[in-house]
Amino acid sequence: MTSSHGSDDTAAEIAARQASAKRHMWLHFTRMSTFADSDMPLIVRGSGPYVFDDRGKRYLDGLSGLFVSQIGHGRKEVAEAAARQGSELGYFPLWSYGHPRAIELAERLAGMAPGDLNRVFFTTSGSEAVESAWKLAKQYFKAIGKHGRYKVLSRDIAYHGTSMGALAITGLAGLKEPFEPLPAGGVRVPNTNFYRAPGFVAHDVTAFGQWAADEIERAILREGPESVAAVFLEPLQNSGGCFPPPPGYFQRVREICDRYGVLLVSDEVICAFGRLGYHFGAQRYSYQPDIITFAKGVTSGYAPLGGMLVSDALMEPFGKGKATFLHGVTFAGHPVSCAVALANLDVFEKEDLLGNVRANEAGFRGTLEKLNDLPIVGDVRGDGYFYGIEMVKDKASRETFSDDESEQLLRGFMSQALFAAGLVCRADDRGDPVIQLAPPLTCTQEHFDEMEQILRSVLTEAWARL
Ligand SMILES: Cc1ncc(COP(=O)(O)O)c(C=O)c1O
Repeated sequence: MTSSHGSDDTAAEIAARQASAKRHMWLHFTRMSTFADSDMPLIVRGSGPYVFDDRGKRYLDGLSGLFVSQIGHGRKEVAEAAARQGSELGYFPLWSYGHPRAIELAERLAGMAPGDLNRVFFTTSGSEAVESAWKLAKQYFKAIGKHGRYKVLSRDIAYHGTSMGALAITGLAGLKEPFEPLPAGGVRVPNTNFYRAPGFVAHDVTAFGQWAADEIERAILREGPESVAAVFLEPLQNSGGCFPPPPGYFQRVREICDRYGVLLVSDEVICAFGRLGYHFGAQRYSYQPDIITFAKGVTSGYAPLGGMLVSDALMEPFGKGKATFLHGVTFAGHPVSCAVALANLDVFEKEDLLGNVRANEAGFRGTLEKLNDLPIVGDVRGDGYFYGIEMVKDKASRETFSDDESEQLLRGFMSQALFAAGLVCRADDRGDPVIQLAPPLTCTQEHFDEMEQILRSVLTEAWARL
């Protein structure tokens, strides 16, 4: 048997595990053919903001796994909370029953959430949370007699998950195409990429934001307000490379939603739980959603959990007579996951992680902005501990790379080079080519410096190869 700590493994054990991985594993969103002539990266343990591979090599986890590990790796108190809960009550469904950890967590989340988002519907993942929010919006409108409202608006290039409903909300044509036809009713509106703003609003970020918000109104009018159920927006859009909302954007969107009776869903699968220095991104940008979807950071990944926080008003028709929200999944609000989430939130409080992000985010931004002196760096953007770096072929004209160049740059070189240099981050070309960073919320200046040094050397080499 191989040891679970990897670094003690013999060469024969490492080779055997590689062979087994290549024979049996199917990785998500991964070109499996790459493993015909290269090894699969295998991460075997973590400690703080670092993870270690099967050969004992250390990596700075600049992406918190996948925007998940807010408190960092290797937290014994969280693992112990899972073990305690497993021996007390390992499983019971939330279909018709409650259990103490889910109740405690629901109350705690409601207390953290803005306004009257007092009701928690648990899921196991972000896609399920998004799926649930759309289903709730549809059933809610039927329950109040507005039978025609089923459509959802979301932004270009935005990622909202992979199940069929969530995929219909996702704004990435390439991810959807193999699965068409998807559920009807997904409508796209512009995102808030100011770096690529249309010329007539490119001079003024506030004017750009008002235009982007007004495009939501135009889409509602075009579709017919009586057919639109909800608008799904991330506080800060991930896919495309971290697009923050322009000043006033969400306030205008809220007005528009109110004017047409459309629900505002804040998809906070990434942005909640401190990523932007607040419990929820809606608090950072001062708007009141009708639903917040969450997952990832709620447990920092020590167990899977997601859910939606729902306003009292939306719950109201479901609290009467025979009404039932006809939706559920077996593992939603799993007792072990809820215990883990509570222990995770305890760490947030004990170590003031929101305070850490707020105190250090200017340092993070400033450190990444140093990279602006490189010819390949076009834009550094984001908020909190969530940043994207857009790479360009020509800084002055903002010309981007062709598909072939992008393929060579990101897949052919950058992804492997960054990993080989000891940094986990994301080199992505679902919009224009970007590198994304979302480190654990425990990180401080020394970690930002480490990221900057690795990025500087890899970006410099990438430019030299072009
Ligand atoms: C904004 C957003 N919504 C939904 C999802 C889907 O979450 P999951 O992968 O847990 O299904 C993601 C995943 O990254 C996300 O970023």
